[in-house]
Amino acid sequence: MKYGYFDDLNREYVITQPDTPLPWMNYLGCQAYFGIISNTAGGYSFYRDARLRRLTRYRYNNVPFDFGGRYIYLRDGQSKEFWSPSWQPTRHNLEDYTCRHGMGYTVIGSSYNGIEAHTRYFVPLDENLEIWQLTVTNRRTTKATLKAFASIEFCLWDAQDDATNFQRNFNTGQVEVEDGVIYHKTEYRERRNHFAYFGCSQPGAGFDTQREAFLGRYRGWDKPVAVEAGQLTNSIAYGWSPMGAHQVNLELEPGETRQVVFVLGYHENPIAEKFDPPGSQTINKKTVKPVIAKYLSAAAADEAFERLRQYWESTLGVFQVNTPDIHTNRMVNIWNAYQCMATFNMSRSASFYESGIGRGLGFRDSNQDLLGFVHMVPSRARERILDLAATQLPTGGAYHQYQPLTKRGNNDIGGGFNDDPHWLILGVSAYLKETGDWSILDEPVEFDNEPGSQAPLYNHLQRSFSYTLDRLGPHGLPLIGRADWNDCLNLNCFSDTPGQSFQTTTNKDGKVAESVFIAGLFVHAGRELAAIARHRGLEAEASGYIGETEKMLAVIDEHGWDGDWFLRAYDDFGAKIGSKECEEGKIFIESNGFCALAGIGLEDGKAAKAMEAVGTHLATKHGIVVQQPAYSKYYLQLGEISSYPPGYKENAGIFCHVNPWVMIGETRLGHGDLAHDYYSRINPSAREEIGDLHRCEPYVYAQMIAGKDAPTFGEAKNSWLTGTAAWNYYAIVQWILGVRTSLDGLEIAPVIPKTWPGYTATRTFRGVVYKISIERAGEGNAIALTVDGVSIAGNVVAAPTDGRTEVVVKGILT
Ligand code: GLC
Ligand code: GLC
Repeated sequence: MKYGYFDDLNREYVITQPDTPLPWMNYLGCQAYFGIISNTAGGYSFYRDARLRRLTRYRYNNVPFDFGGRYIYLRDGQSKEFWSPSWQPTRHNLEDYTCRHGMGYTVIGSSYNGIEAHTRYFVPLDENLEIWQLTVTNRRTTKATLKAFASIEFCLWDAQDDATNFQRNFNTGQVEVEDGVIYHKTEYRERRNHFAYFGCSQPGAGFDTQREAFLGRYRGWDKPVAVEAGQLTNSIAYGWSPMGAHQVNLELEPGETRQVVFVLGYHENPIAEKFDPPGSQTINKKTVKPVIAKYLSAAAADEAFERLRQYWESTLGVFQVNTPDIHTNRMVNIWNAYQCMATFNMSRSASFYESGIGRGLGFRDSNQDLLGFVHMVPSRARERILDLAATQLPTGGAYHQYQPLTKRGNNDIGGGFNDDPHWLILGVSAYLKETGDWSILDEPVEFDNEPGSQAPLYNHLQRSFSYTLDRLGPHGLPLIGRADWNDCLNLNCFSDTPGQSFQTTTNKDGKVAESVFIAGLFVHAGRELAAIARHRGLEAEASGYIGETEKMLAVIDEHGWDGDWFLRAYDDFGAKIGSKECEEGKIFIESNGFCALAGIGLEDGKAAKAMEAVGTHLATKHGIVVQQPAYSKYYLQLGEISSYPPGYKENAGIFCHVNPWVMIGETRLGHGDLAHDYYSRINPSAREEIGDLHRCEPYVYAQMIAGKDAPTFGEAKNSWLTGTAAWNYYAIVQWILGVRTSLDGLEIAPVIPKTWPGYTATRTFRGVVYKISIERAGEGNAIALTVDGVSIAGNVVAAPTDGRTEVVVKGILT
């Protein structure tokens, strides 16, 4: 069943039932201040770093309860009843509940007993704050006497500490209240120079800042004692749990509408100007007051909302397509691109499935995220690439993760994931193809953030490449290290102690276990690097890279091919993984998908055979599983992969992130029907009707769908923050629709279903708008192109040399 519907015109998903199978969420903010918001107003906010600068509290391991949020209550003066227009936290029955998740905003509302109320939540561009616009209308025939309450619970900044160190935290909480604005200043007296604030456009009727005063003893957010009583108590928090609550009294004539604006924000003062007057302990509010005052006006809030709308209009406008398939259209034009922005911003840090206190930004993850993001805001992609490269180690290796606030490599997890360095080559290559900005290669970038260690970015790429050459195993294949793309294939771990991390535990010297997947990645990255070198006029260097990739291809031929498909790896005993010889885990998606994507085995038929084997052994109606047969028990020599029950996660789950590798592989074989069929199997919009099975949001990808070995085959988990977003976007746009960036210009090479008569698209590329239309005249993939009516040879449309900023590209497929 469905829990809502797509409103494509407004770029919204409209949820019409509050108790969705899981909280269905959205992100607010797209630059520095972020919020997570569920369809019932749950979630939290933070500035830049979800762990270290958390503004509001959220309760962990909290699906499906979803407590902690931006909660509004309405109380009827006549009946004394109170309810939340967003359903949570009171879960009072409502009429006409809707939640509209849009591009960077969410509107939640409902009616109850003739009172209509909805709240629009969003983060204005270039500001570190969020606005809640509550609109209340009296649809009764009589006057309504209402009280509105808005509440948040402050997190004491470091979310990890907040959740664990109560003996201290119950004594540190501090607030100030001035002119009706609540300022949260815990730890401001010592080393922080930032504080949070919560303001209201109509203060005066009451506030609370001490949680216990608001909630009452042994009560939850569903039944705050102060709301029940209809009067906040003006409590001032000293220690315990600081919160912010505002009360607004509303007298509404029949038909009357009123809007109240709340602003929750983050502000920093220069260290020398923290206090006002100097020497006092009072927050200096000189620079924050004008900001608060501005956005508490409904007109300024509306204007900021309009700017946000335009921002998304132009960001998404870089690529828009019209195909015969509605699911393709809305994912490409709206939601998949939007999700790519979220994964770029968050990596894998903060969602309802990632706590925001654990992982920072992943090296591998963030580089891959660029594939789906770089066309939207290339300047931010550039900055990200330079940040990532600065965490690279002098060996060419990489910290697996880094912390966004400090931009330093994360020592807890360290490095040694031997695929990591190559993703930097692919990230940079994607950037060059998009922008043609070759200057990035000359940017001086440190290694491991070590002052004085600067070398041009290009040198980082060279080291990425040689990292693998320095780490070859007994068969000449790349050593796997702690893991490759599959974090759970831990061939040097051999952990038998409960609770040990599979990724950081190493009990072997790492000199035997090899990865065929990294071999394929190495070939692919090596070719990209060679093309970059050639472009820079480094012909000899380029041939050197090609020479190394050819050697690796020969090794793959000899030791990486199992007869009908590519092997996956060799374990620490030198035994095959992903082979017919294995009892379980005979065939894997990663090595097969990636080799086909890289065009390995296209000429000699290996790629075709491998894709056929994937189709036969791994493809299911809900997507393609990681491997088969699933591991039915724990294998010491394989690690985390065999820790999951069959059908989940890396143990034969449908890892949506790697499905696009097979889609791309199929396009390289010219199989447009199958490529698009695989695309559709995991496309969340195409799965909307099976909401009770799929359970996650129908507008964004989830990391995983349970595989056929699982009792819940088809159930999605871990939505939003996954490499699935970028890879699916890249696969559908660049390989199936075939609007592909290249170092030389925009390449047009569609491999679309036979039944499609064609499609039209608009792509802004390096400052030129390409109006593309593709028509099918035959069933094949051969294309004849005209540019502004003039036919061109090949399929790369070079940039116009005469200053034209718009060109018409027509393609006929035969
Ligand atoms: C998660 C990780 C990613 C990894 C994948 C497979 O998505 O974020 O880095 O490649 O799992 O293990
Ligand atoms: C990846 C995997 C996950 C694993 C994590 C690290 O993200 O998807 O299963 O738990 O890496 O431990």
